[in-house]
Amino acid sequence: MDKLLISGPCKIKGQVLISASKNAALPILASTLLFDKPVIINNLPKVKDIDTMLNLLKSLGSKIQFSKNRKIVKIIKTRKQKYFSNYSIMKTMRAGILVLGPMVSKYHKSITSFPGGCILNGNSGRPINLHLNALKKLGMKYEIKKGYIYAKSKGKLKGNNIKFPKISVGATEQLIMSAVLANGRTLLQNCACEPEIKDLTNFLKLAGANIKWIGKRSCQIIGVNSLKETTYSIMGDRIEAGTFCVAATLTKGDLLIKNFNPKLIQTELNLLKKIGAQIKTAKDKIHIKGPKKIKSIKNITTKEYDGFPTDLQPQFMVLLCKANGISSITENIFQGRFIHVMELQRLGAKIFIKDRTAIIEGNTNFIGAEVMSSDLRASAALVLAGIASKGQTTISRIYHLDRGYEKIEKKLNKIGAKIKRVS
Ligand code: EPZ
Repeated sequence: MDKLLISGPCKIKGQVLISASKNAALPILASTLLFDKPVIINNLPKVKDIDTMLNLLKSLGSKIQFSKNRKIVKIIKTRKQKYFSNYSIMKTMRAGILVLGPMVSKYHKSITSFPGGCILNGNSGRPINLHLNALKKLGMKYEIKKGYIYAKSKGKLKGNNIKFPKISVGATEQLIMSAVLANGRTLLQNCACEPEIKDLTNFLKLAGANIKWIGKRSCQIIGVNSLKETTYSIMGDRIEAGTFCVAATLTKGDLLIKNFNPKLIQTELNLLKKIGAQIKTAKDKIHIKGPKKIKSIKNITTKEYDGFPTDLQPQFMVLLCKANGISSITENIFQGRFIHVMELQRLGAKIFIKDRTAIIEGNTNFIGAEVMSSDLRASAALVLAGIASKGQTTISRIYHLDRGYEKIEKKLNKIGAKIKRVS
């Protein structure tokens, strides 16, 4: 298993290009199951979760053709369609569950393993009840046996009105994809409206789907018979961009972030300004300079978009460890998403958890130590803390990081970090 060795402290300075969003690419790839015609994606991020999704599609009978640099991918349906999504692939990634709806919608049957993914919710796990209950309302029938969902429908799914009892990114994506080829009109209410979901609907609309957002959280889909050949470029990764913004702010750095629309992280940029960062934005650029003194901030609360994202909570926590006073962050999306706290404490952080709130004492002098990745964004937080630490930090289990950040150590080393990967 690879480890990262980080020598710190370092100052982040220079320019960085943001990759395409993993969380936008995953549902778009799952939705290719709805097509008969090829789909071409121009800018797939080279991360492990994307490889896993492509392997899942291959195992279901899709043919995957890469360009020489593996950035452009063509997904072609073959006649050898299969209906079985194996545990061995599904166990490593939550987003695997997104093939369920498209499979039932297009082929009226599927046997899908329960998915895996980051453990973020303590004892509550990561349920898929919202997905299953809503799919039932479109006419899907299912049984659960030995860890697999045996699902089928009598012919096409049928449009319906569905109000999600709770906002869920994955369930919203699942239902949008499932309704695209269904009979009649589906109205989804209380939807998640993260930019990645808008990217999915933009892609599907380009392919001929009839989808309309009505107000902020309602989405109307009128079923069409088929989707046409489509070429698409995926939006920039807002969590990667946010992580780099934190790196610059944390290290009194000076960073130009390119290839990314700053409007997608306006909430985060506003917070960073409050913390003291100097920020200038243009159409697809962010210029960010870290302050001499980071200001503490109370009551950051994770929320659905356009609130502060849970996927940046661990990284901001590292930043607030260096602030000039006490800060607090409340985690509202995943109640167990504080596993990084214990590892940050090894580096010297003074953080206390009370229910869903982390109290961060500030004025931490991070000192390098051995730490362990527990999930994707927690790993990014440990990399940031390592960059800000004096001496060597060793991060093990970095396969979590490789699931979602493209060439992270290469990108960071180009802008001043000293990170070595060892096997
Ligand atoms: C997506 O996960 C993202 N994953 C996550 O990013 C992100 O943290 C999360 O949305 C919230 O923004 C992908 O896009 C692949 P949810 P998802 O359904 O869809 C509960 C990363 O690091 N819930 O919006 O799984 C759930 O337990 C990852 O890139 C149910 O109760 O998140 C949570 O408390 C980690 N029943 C809340 O809803 C369900 O059926 C929100 O989860 C589904 C969810």
